[in-house]
Amino acid sequence: MKLHGNEVLPSGKSYTLHKILAIVITLVLLTVIPLIYNLINYSLFLHNTTSPTSPSSPYSNAIQQQEECDIFTGEWVPNPNAPYYTSSSCWAIHEHQNCMKYGRPDGGFMQWRWKPDACDLPIFNPSQFLELMRDKSLAFVGDSVGRNQMQSLICLLSPVEYPKDVSYTSDESFKRWKYTTYNFTMASFWTPHLIKAAMGDSNGPTKTGLFNLYLDEYDQEWTTQIDEFDYIIISGGHWFFRPMVFYERHRIVGCHYCLLENVTDLGMYYGYRKAFRTAFKAINSLENFKGTTILRTFAPSHFENGLWNQGGNCLRTRPFRSNETQLEGHNLELYMIQMEEFKIAEREGRKRGRKFRVLDTTQAMLLRPDGHPSRYGHLASENVTLYNDCVHWCLPGPIDAWSDFLLEMLKMEGIRSARDGLQFG
Ligand SMILES: *[C@@H]1O[C@H](CO)[C@@H](O)[C@H](O)[C@H]1NC(C)=O
Ligand SMILES: *[C@@H]1O[C@H](CO)[C@@H](O)[C@H](O)[C@H]1NC(C)=O
Ligand SMILES: *[C@@H]1O[C@H](CO)[C@@H](O)[C@H](O)[C@H]1NC(C)=O
Ligand SMILES: *[C@@H]1O[C@H](CO)[C@@H](O)[C@H](O)[C@H]1NC(C)=O
Repeated sequence: MKLHGNEVLPSGKSYTLHKILAIVITLVLLTVIPLIYNLINYSLFLHNTTSPTSPSSPYSNAIQQQEECDIFTGEWVPNPNAPYYTSSSCWAIHEHQNCMKYGRPDGGFMQWRWKPDACDLPIFNPSQFLELMRDKSLAFVGDSVGRNQMQSLICLLSPVEYPKDVSYTSDESFKRWKYTTYNFTMASFWTPHLIKAAMGDSNGPTKTGLFNLYLDEYDQEWTTQIDEFDYIIISGGHWFFRPMVFYERHRIVGCHYCLLENVTDLGMYYGYRKAFRTAFKAINSLENFKGTTILRTFAPSHFENGLWNQGGNCLRTRPFRSNETQLEGHNLELYMIQMEEFKIAEREGRKRGRKFRVLDTTQAMLLRPDGHPSRYGHLASENVTLYNDCVHWCLPGPIDAWSDFLLEMLKMEGIRSARDGLQFG
């Protein structure tokens, strides 16, 4: 679903330098310092637990509770303060996800936040994020939903700073952005199947393209580029629904709905599992890579009353409550496969001191049938062959919560290393 437009992002009016400085200083004072304070406090607490007489601090209890909380299990609750940017305040929104611009009549879908059952998930704080990412780099590896997340992050960060385009190619599939004040680099790598793949037949049995997937070969477009990154967010899924021919050791071993004579249909899950296995293997085999690999789990689509290419649509205007739907069918299967391959890779990586984490967006996004562009990803008058888009997410919209998750994970990472430093340092 490469909704690859040739639209040009107009460079937006950014804040004046004074305003930026004022915001930065205020937010740093308000947020980063308490964070550091908490880290120190937590470290002290850990240190103190060796002494039975030391009282535990309220800060450390809160942090411990937060650390033990499963932030990915919860409900969407109303948030009248959202959204935190608009189609006119942020220039980074991809046309096809710019639902405000294209006249989506209801705005309620933007006004929810994620509330974990066992704790609170703070709303994204751009200054804090940029402070934590100072001198670091983050790569998005995957399809257009990965790009969707990156653009959401750019918009959420935009009150503090817009990045400079430092891409090494004019190919929009490989973007590189630099936050100069923070020396923070962000990049996206287009690899919808995560492994070496090529279009075999642009038509194929379903008229949506038949792809050749080389299940045991790396996609060097990204595997040769990522060893310098501190964080990789890897994701994939939606492209595996299309017809595919699977190759292993340079020979056809089977396919998914290819309808070719003498080729066994192994189903999409076969290819999906092997693709993740090979992608993780590529990461684990990088000599110089010292970063953290984050699996962003599959975000379900929400076509109702038909498949995506058969008139299906997503017309709901409210999130589900968690008791109104459940993970099942394809969504559950893809989720389980990812997690199984992730765990194998994590075990393998741990031997070499590699970090693997899960950004588990599946449950939260399963509950958001209301967050997709549907037909508001282009002008009503435009004659496009686009279907109703129930895969990507409107910006602003529920995908903004992925940055809430990510920041929380980075904070917990800081706490872990503070603690590990104390225990083993
Ligand atoms: C910017 O960050 C990179 C690591 O991402 C580091 O190697 C470099 O020294 C930093 N530059 C400055 C000026 O601090
Ligand atoms: C399919 O396999 C059969 C038996 O091995 C063979 O006779 C036939 O030519 C094959 N068809 C194609 C299209 O390869
Ligand atoms: C789901 O839970 C809410 C709140 O606990 C309740 O009001 C609602 O009736 C439940 N819905 C279903 C379908 O069980
Ligand atoms: C829209 O485009 C298709 C193919 O490009 C063409 O066949 C059709 O006539 C167009 N419809 C309108 C209303 O322009």
